[in-house]
Amino acid sequence: MSAALPTSSREWHLVARPHGWPKAEDFALREAAVAAPAEGRILVRNKYFSVDPYMRGRMNDVKSYTPPFKLDHPMDGGAVGEVIASNAEGFAVGDHVLHGLGWREIADLPAKHAVKVDPEIAPLSAYLGVLGMPGLTAYAGLFEVASFKEGDAVFVSGAAGAVGSQVGQLAKLKGASRVIGSAGSDEKVKLLTEEYGFDAAFNYKNGPVRDQLKAAAPDGIDVYFDNVGGEHLEAAISSFNLHGRATICGMIAQYNSTEPTPGPSNMALIIGKRLRLQGMLVGDHAHLQGQFVQEVAGWLASGELKYQETEVEGIENGYDAFVGLLRGENTGKMIVSLA
Ligand SMILES: NC(=O)c1ccc[n+]([C@@H]2O[C@H](COP(=O)([O-])OP(=O)(O)OC[C@H]3O[C@@H](n4cnc5c(N)ncnc54)[C@H](OP(=O)(O)O)[C@@H]3O)[C@@H](O)[C@H]2O)c1
Repeated sequence: MSAALPTSSREWHLVARPHGWPKAEDFALREAAVAAPAEGRILVRNKYFSVDPYMRGRMNDVKSYTPPFKLDHPMDGGAVGEVIASNAEGFAVGDHVLHGLGWREIADLPAKHAVKVDPEIAPLSAYLGVLGMPGLTAYAGLFEVASFKEGDAVFVSGAAGAVGSQVGQLAKLKGASRVIGSAGSDEKVKLLTEEYGFDAAFNYKNGPVRDQLKAAAPDGIDVYFDNVGGEHLEAAISSFNLHGRATICGMIAQYNSTEPTPGPSNMALIIGKRLRLQGMLVGDHAHLQGQFVQEVAGWLASGELKYQETEVEGIENGYDAFVGLLRGENTGKMIVSLA
């Protein structure tokens, strides 16, 4: 065990449940004592932690697929770091691990909840993004949930984000006839067509999604990967060809809504077009993990798959990073790096 362990760690607590958009007062950065790890546990100095849209849901006190964050407790989420003390067989000081205790500088956790990662294979932050949970979401959501097949025309919203940018590129790599993306700025739209190989892209803030999608996909779409919901889902239903399939992955347009949000007005089209709209949770697709890592690591090595990260430095900026993600300040995966 290392002799010079830190004695304290800063960690983000949720101190009030946000109503609508989160406010700085809903969060507090607090100090906690650090002790040597108990039997079977390790201490990890986090190098990166993830801020993700689903965390907004965990700030509400509602029953969901993941429990709400507890008030006045550290928040959690994906993180990668270096083991600084180990009281567990198979883990040594200096090992790098992926685990679920983000939002803090030092994590004290059972070693069985940590997975070793290799910084030689990919930069550590990639295990939170392109090779991590958002990457698997894209892979499973497109290939398993949407039953993507060669020749499909694919539309993805949130297309310059972590999941969306990977969905569009995976579809191209697997022979999509056309890939269309929507994003919230002209710079992001340019990135999609000029760097990521999308056939068409549009800024959803520049006009009605339905009209912009019709123009970008004149022959219709076969697959819609929904990260946004609302107007985007309505537009996709309108542009779907017969037997179209939608993966309902996220509805970020309504995560901060304080009133019930209206559903698409054109649901009856689902009948005549024989559409399939299916929700997904990435946790149901763990069986694809091995195949996903193998294929995606290969495309990353060959340069066929590109990705970006938006890195916010310093634990004290964790709240800003989270709210920035909800506002669209990120391109690719939003992560917080720690010194
Ligand atoms: N079901 C699952 O298992 C699962 C797993 C992972 C992620 N997800 C979901 O997948 C989606 C993407 O997640 P991610 O981690 O890749 O995040 P992300 O796309 O990297 O970041 C969120 C993006 O959402 C966009 N956005 C924010 N408000 C919007 C609005 N009102 N309308 C349209 N776009 C808006 C912003 O980009 P713009 O600048 O383009 O607006 C922002 O950059 C989220 O909905 C998330 O909840 C689901």
